[in-house]
Amino acid sequence: METKIEKINAESLNLAKKLILEGEIVAFPTETVYGLGANVFDEKAVKKIFEAKGRPSDNPLIAHVADAKTIELLACEISKKAKKIINKLMPGSLTIVLKKKTSVPDIVTANLDTVAIRMPLSTEARAFISACGVPIAAPSANLSSRPSPTTYQAVFEDLNGKIPLILAGHDCEVGIESTVLDMTAEPTILRPGIVTAEQIEKVLGEKVLTFSDKNRKVNSPGMRYRHYAPSIPAALDTTCDVKKVSELYDKLMSNGQKAVILCLEQYSKFFENKEVYSLGKTEKEAANKLFSALRECEKKYDYIIEMFCPKTEEGFSVLNRMIKSVGENFI
Ligand code: TXA
Ligand code: MG
Repeated sequence: METKIEKINAESLNLAKKLILEGEIVAFPTETVYGLGANVFDEKAVKKIFEAKGRPSDNPLIAHVADAKTIELLACEISKKAKKIINKLMPGSLTIVLKKKTSVPDIVTANLDTVAIRMPLSTEARAFISACGVPIAAPSANLSSRPSPTTYQAVFEDLNGKIPLILAGHDCEVGIESTVLDMTAEPTILRPGIVTAEQIEKVLGEKVLTFSDKNRKVNSPGMRYRHYAPSIPAALDTTCDVKKVSELYDKLMSNGQKAVILCLEQYSKFFENKEVYSLGKTEKEAANKLFSALRECEKKYDYIIEMFCPKTEEGFSVLNRMIKSVGENFI
């Protein structure tokens, strides 16, 4: 199949709508990462998403909406607390898990009785969803286990020939996927993101649990699988031990492996005469750059050494992705 790349305008939105309503799948930008969308209510179309990505069928998708009213089409038992979150933090880089209505096909939710719902902030994403006139089921638009795509070129890299259309919008501003918040019981963050526990706690006036709380069995199927893996080996140092990182770099180079160190700008001074890929000056910038950095480095080098020791909640969300990207291979 030919994969068209179209800038977002009235004509391409019309084409996207036509494809979606005919049961096809379309890639589109959001402020977090690019998504691969289908009509939520069209089981056959949703199945195409799993096929194109090679995604395990027990990993549920997020339903994307353009307005709060549509959430009621998909979810029931929307508590007062959930309504507060919807009113104060949506649209935004946040996904909430609610009890699902039977109208949502089981293939979308991987047979769970809950549904994940997100209202993106990106005007491009909202224009696409509104044009289609149906909620859009969408995971990130990468091949399963690969870094999420933050540019339309990265979508093309992974899905060329497998989907009919990529809506080419801006590069993603946030760069890591939305925070996933379970609101079906005690509010629990299943996947950390740029919307922080602190922000959520402010809205709710109570503590939220996080996916790492040991006293609670957390149910986010997606956390089980290999994620964000570049095509070359990678290792991670979470202590910013520049000596240790330098030693590994030298060892790799003396074995004939071309290595690169991925770290914040301010650490590059410790690695003179070494190949460094800067993640920018702040932890928020690192969120924006991480996935595109992994995709760029895999093209130029043989081994990626990631070094990151976050101090902010946003930074810990980046670290969460880094740990997965190296398959827990710590230095
Ligand atoms: O920023 C984002 O969230 C992007 C853009 C495209 O919106 N989407 C995205 O989708 O990252 P995906 O499929 O790559 O990640 C969805 C995550 C997975 O970890 C999945 O297991 C979890 O959400 N999830 C989906 N439905 C769920 C449910 N009912 N209960 C618990 N976790 C759920
Ligand atoms: Mg994904």
